[in-house]
Amino acid sequence: GRVLLAYSGGLDTSCILAWLIEQGYEVMCYMANVGQEEDFDAAVIKAKGCGATKVFVEDLQREFVEELIYPAVQANTIYEGVYLLGTSLARPVIARRQMEIAARENCQYVSHGCTGKGNDQVRFELAYYALKPDIKVIAPWRIPAFYERFQGRKDLLAFAAEKSIPVVQTAAKPWSTDENLFHISYEAGILEDPDVTPPKDMWKLTVDPEDAPNTPERITIEFEQGKPVKVINASQKKEVTGGLEIFLYLNQLARQNGIGRLDIVENRFIGIKSRGCYETPAGTILRVAHMDLEGLTLDRQVRNMRDQFVTPQYSNLLYNGQYFSPEAEFLLAAIAASQKTVNGEVRLKLYKGNVIVEGRSSKTNNLYDMEESSMDVQGGFSPVDSEGFIKIQSIRLKKWGLNKKLI
Ligand code: ARG
Ligand code: SIN
Repeated sequence: GRVLLAYSGGLDTSCILAWLIEQGYEVMCYMANVGQEEDFDAAVIKAKGCGATKVFVEDLQREFVEELIYPAVQANTIYEGVYLLGTSLARPVIARRQMEIAARENCQYVSHGCTGKGNDQVRFELAYYALKPDIKVIAPWRIPAFYERFQGRKDLLAFAAEKSIPVVQTAAKPWSTDENLFHISYEAGILEDPDVTPPKDMWKLTVDPEDAPNTPERITIEFEQGKPVKVINASQKKEVTGGLEIFLYLNQLARQNGIGRLDIVENRFIGIKSRGCYETPAGTILRVAHMDLEGLTLDRQVRNMRDQFVTPQYSNLLYNGQYFSPEAEFLLAAIAASQKTVNGEVRLKLYKGNVIVEGRSSKTNNLYDMEESSMDVQGGFSPVDSEGFIKIQSIRLKKWGLNKKLI
């Protein structure tokens, strides 16, 4: 049989590659470029050296931003009130290209290096089965013959030496990471004790807010239908357009100003709790700006229904790996419909880890009426009507008060 292995270039997936060949499979390798820092050329050489018959490196950055990240910005997605879903968001685009290549290259099998305790195994495999229902999955970390043989890094290193797999001589970091252009995650190792403060040198995508510049950076973000279409930095005389370009520029500004660090104990889909630290630079800026613009441009009732149903459901669905599903189609249609009026600009100050809104405006969809809202102007509003409004609202509360006798 022929296998398409999701390959990272690291020790684990290199050993999986050699082990699959040892089991008699022909193995092709697939690497997705979702904006992680990676030496792809070196990884290709390594995979070929391990015996891969073909290696595919695919640049998925643009579809990652346009198809996954921006709808998440439109929906204000967040998991358990903290996590911005950076790993979850990348999985659909990675899995989709893997299935396309598996189909084209006639691979009956796919394989990955996810552990048997995590979310990623669920995300990858649900996507595989939805996209290519006849695919067969080999998950070595769930196969006793594999995990009993490789019980720790020592066993992997011994196997690598036996198979002449080159091992990069950097001291292994005492945590595990997953990186893409939206975020980096840190889990496991010394972070498994939820009361251990991450060491200062762990954080990779942002400067420590304490070391960030003393002068703030000011920008304006322009949105169309809830998606950013332009970033203006007047002091740098800079205007950035283009989905990916905007995102990378905001990453750079957020990084310099220490924006986007998180630390959470979260509930994995399979029920285990896990402590994770995350850096989501541009995603943090866009979340603040987008939510602010909705205040000016989004109808109250649309917002209310979206917040109660669409946002939590879509966030959970992403976390639980069900992006390729009928309910995701349904929710994405609702998200797009909710954003038709979210047009305008938000002015922000970026300062030592903070994203501070300084103002917002909308030429086309401003639902805010300065006269109507003013404390100083009557503006066609009759205060007498408010008296009746309160009276009617109070009917049932009086009944309740009569029974309760609180005072
Ligand atoms: N806990 C996060 C999530 O489930 C991050 C997972 C990181 N994945 C990894 N293979 N290191 O989305
Ligand atoms: C893994 O288990 O492979 C990483 C963590 C996760 O997927 O939740």
